[in-house]
Amino acid sequence: MKRALISDIHSNLEGLEAALEDIRSQDISEIYCLGDIIGYGPNPRECIDLVMECDICILGNHDLGALFDPEGFNKGAEQAIFWTREQLESSRGDPQKNAARWDFLGELPRNRREDGLLFVHGSARNPINEYVFPEDVYNQRKMESIFALIEKYCFQGHTHVPGVFTEQMSFFSPEDINYRYSLTNEKIMVNVGSVGQPRDGDWRSCYVILHDDSLEFRRLEYSVEETVEKIYGIPELDNFLADRLREGR
Ligand SMILES: [Fe+2]
Repeated sequence: MKRALISDIHSNLEGLEAALEDIRSQDISEIYCLGDIIGYGPNPRECIDLVMECDICILGNHDLGALFDPEGFNKGAEQAIFWTREQLESSRGDPQKNAARWDFLGELPRNRREDGLLFVHGSARNPINEYVFPEDVYNQRKMESIFALIEKYCFQGHTHVPGVFTEQMSFFSPEDINYRYSLTNEKIMVNVGSVGQPRDGDWRSCYVILHDDSLEFRRLEYSVEETVEKIYGIPELDNFLADRLREGR
């Protein structure tokens, strides 16, 4: 069975469509989304509608921020959340569809467990808010306490930096491992990267295919300038949110 793991779409419709098109060509049986459907980007409604078709979706911190009062966000991110909320509440849209979108967001779970596999947005320890960055391999105490909560493999997003963390305190970026990683009995944490706002210096949309015995990182070019122009055209969205897309930072 092949599953696609997508995350951190952040209302980037062009990035999401590129990933979904690739997924359709890969004989995938299920799609899991690891959260942050919205926030930052210009197409929250369209992205929620597409993710509602996924088999599983987990709650992200930006999804939570739109549902309740956003806490702990920087100014640009907070402003984007308020704008996003307005789009979902806007009476211009179909009220029934907007209600269905809110219901969907409000019912998202914080994690999902399946035979040793764990799916979260942030980390096994704090599913919504904790970041696990590549440099955390130097923070042995943090890594050990998170790995202690993982039975086998944990799949996460949140940092927008894809790669594989091992219990031996190594981090492998997709390029380090030629975009493939063989699954063994060793515990790992896998960051599946970001569909709509990569921050690893590669601007292309990112997701992971989970095969029976391996992982595959996929990178897809998309019409980034289209997304950039939309963000420039919305005063409530900081231009930086557009500029960073071009460089994947
Ligand atoms: Fe995110």
